[in-house]
Amino acid sequence: MAETILVTGATGYIGSHTCVCLLKAGWRVVAVDNLSNSSMRTVDRIQTLCRQKLPFHLIDVRDESALMRLLSQENISAAIHFAGLKSVSESISKPLDYYDNNVNGSITLLKVLHQHGVRKFVFSSSATVYGEPKHVPISENASLSATNPYGRSKLFIEQIVNDLSEADAEWRIATLRYFNPAGAHESGLLGEDPRGQPNNLMPYIAQVAVGKLPHLSVFGNDYPTSDGTGVRDYIHVMDLAQGHLSALSRLYSRSGSFTVNLGTGQGVTVLQAVAAFEKACGASIPITVAPRRAGDIASCYASANKAEELLNWKAEKTLLQMVNDHWRWQKQNPNGY
Ligand code: NAD
Ligand code: UFG
Repeated sequence: MAETILVTGATGYIGSHTCVCLLKAGWRVVAVDNLSNSSMRTVDRIQTLCRQKLPFHLIDVRDESALMRLLSQENISAAIHFAGLKSVSESISKPLDYYDNNVNGSITLLKVLHQHGVRKFVFSSSATVYGEPKHVPISENASLSATNPYGRSKLFIEQIVNDLSEADAEWRIATLRYFNPAGAHESGLLGEDPRGQPNNLMPYIAQVAVGKLPHLSVFGNDYPTSDGTGVRDYIHVMDLAQGHLSALSRLYSRSGSFTVNLGTGQGVTVLQAVAAFEKACGASIPITVAPRRAGDIASCYASANKAEELLNWKAEKTLLQMVNDHWRWQKQNPNGY
């Protein structure tokens, strides 16, 4: 009998792709989401892709009694916790929502898991916990800081799970620091579906390419980088999803907790990302140069060595595959799900 994994935030961008990888690899999945930033249609799409039923529960992870009921019904042995709010700008205007959803949501979930004897936990952290990095590539032992409530919520949760594994060696916790997820499932059935105008580069370019937005504003071309634009580590969402399976396998095979970067180790500038997308969609993407965005850093990319050593995982897909898949998703679903 396959182990059952609780996936919170399962209908979101990264959660939905991870559910597909889990189901295809033979794990049983119980999906939870409050649909605050996703659609039930995702469940249908996952079921179509995997040709099996995905048990879905409309639950807010802050709802302790709903989680208690669920855990009493299902024989869960590990949880992957994606559920949370993720907009840096929104976190500055609504800090309490971010601390409540992200920090309280995680504490509530951890308490319920603890009460049901579940001690394997995978947490979605972010490269944002490195603040303004002193060196690139960034390794896991770099100094940590936060410049906004979203980042601070991730740092707090990292500290909470560290304290938990210190307090009780039975806990096996994987803290995964994602760099910049992009791309979509190669079928074009799953992808990122931001509500309103996108904040992030790839979905923004995709909406310009499909004609929903007139042009991309490039936030600054005077950074100390190869072409003056910001450098990031874009990782294909399916590679990222596979990273979760590798982390989970390690939790099942060995005791102890760990923190790893999930990135490619390659830095890509905004202009390189635009050029790649132009290749994918076969049209030019109009750009205008705008002032730097407040809070942005020049360059952020991962050292990917620890993930390879510890998890035997590395990102396989190229930037071109990423933008091709992103474009297929956008073209097939111009208005999202
Ligand atoms: P997403 O918004 O697409 O998915 C998050 C899901 O969680 C959504 O479906 C939303 O409805 C759900 N959710 C939010 N609050 C909830 C709550 N209280 N109870 C139940 N469900 C709730 O975001 P994503 O890009 O898939 O990100 C997943 C996780 O990865 C998040 O924790 C995010 O902070 C983290 N992360 C994302 C990125 C990124 O750039 N996408 C980078 C680093 C880390
Ligand atoms: N950019 C533009 N124009 C846009 C959007 C972005 O030029 O319209 C540039 C940014 O200035 C940056 C790069 O594209 O140089 C990437 O920007 P994103 O907003 O896509 O990604 P960030 O690295 O700024 O932020 C992302 C997540 C954060 C997370 C951070 C670190 O959105 O939540 O990665 O993991 F904290």
